[in-house]
Amino acid sequence: PKSYRIVVLPGDGIGPDVVAQATRVLDLVSETSTSVKLILESHDFGGCAIDKYGEPLPASTLTACQQADAILLGSVGGPKWGPEAKVRPEQGLLGIRKALGLYANVRPANFASDSLLSYTPLKPEIARGVDMIVIRELIGGLYFGPRQEQGDGDTAYDTMVYSVAEVERITRVAAQIALAANPPLAIHSIDKANCACKFELTVDHYLVDSAAMIIVANPKKLNGVVLTENMFGDILSDETSVIPGSLGLLPSASLAGAPALVSDPSFKPTSGIYEPIHGSAPDIAGKGIANPIGTILSAAMLLRYSLGLEKEAQAVEAAVRKVLDEPSVGGYGIRTADLQGKATTVEVGDKVVEVLKS
Ligand code: NAD
Ligand code: IPM
Ligand code: MN
Repeated sequence: PKSYRIVVLPGDGIGPDVVAQATRVLDLVSETSTSVKLILESHDFGGCAIDKYGEPLPASTLTACQQADAILLGSVGGPKWGPEAKVRPEQGLLGIRKALGLYANVRPANFASDSLLSYTPLKPEIARGVDMIVIRELIGGLYFGPRQEQGDGDTAYDTMVYSVAEVERITRVAAQIALAANPPLAIHSIDKANCACKFELTVDHYLVDSAAMIIVANPKKLNGVVLTENMFGDILSDETSVIPGSLGLLPSASLAGAPALVSDPSFKPTSGIYEPIHGSAPDIAGKGIANPIGTILSAAMLLRYSLGLEKEAQAVEAAVRKVLDEPSVGGYGIRTADLQGKATTVEVGDKVVEVLKS
């Protein structure tokens, strides 16, 4: 069998808990597959690496990531390394994205399945059928622009800088994703200005303030590919998690280009970082109740995009749906507290594994 090296970065807070459930799923794929073997290795990253080595992204972790076929990440950060700290875990996250050139962050927000809609705070008819893919530029904009305090510290600036080339490459990713669907998906470009586009695709434009309103008022209007810059994408993607009802559900892939599709004859697996969109959730860390679904779905994206294992990815996604589904729909209705359930993180993982084995 072909062997793949997966670097696992559990991180801080609930990161290790949710990652542990996703690695069970990857281990199971490895055990049951006759064609692939997944070799998982954990490395220190984030606050726990600051505590050990004084830096969030130690050179050994970066090297392992550079050599990996794919990276699975939990989350980093926490009150222990707060805004006053000299080194912050979040710097490691921005650093690794930049170092690996992962400019395309793919955040699917697909709630076509009713199983994810039992706890939406929106009216069900507004939430049902939402099917967007947020494409967030990940290594430019405000996160990486020049910033400085001025005078005696009473003024500061932080700049959103993008080159034409940076805008074009992320737009190309959005276009490739839109064109891979049949019929092609609409592209909704979200910015705070005007821009021109050269693709034979439906492209419309929204200003970010109005898009933030539409995501909760009439989200289906944005079905298709939602293309946006780094910080707008960060904010809007957390907002989309309100549609199914929990931030703990949503996965992401950070890639150095458009996701490769295994159905494409020129498919070439490329590495990337796969992580839930949520953070380290200090308010529930250590309680064993974090929702592992966003991380398990991130592992499914890893199987699909970095290893080309489409069938296995779909099996994981189907297992998750079955576990979340109400018994009346044919599933189990097993959910953590963020979805008004009583299950622990491990119990959700247990069920996903059980369904996958059956
Ligand atoms: P957060 O995403 O950690 O939590 C926001 C809210 O959502 C909290 O109430 C939390 O309990 C809940 N939540 C998040 N994930 C959940 C899950 N899987 N199951 C159940 N509930 C969940 O955001 P925050 O509290 O603003 O940030 C905490 C720390 O995480 C900060 O240090 C921040 O910088 C960091 N952070 C890291 C990442 C990352 O590593 N990719 C992403 C976002 C935030
Ligand atoms: C995310 C997080 C990070 C971001 C933080 C922790 C730097 O919120 O991955 O969504 O803003 O990109
Ligand atoms: Mn975020």
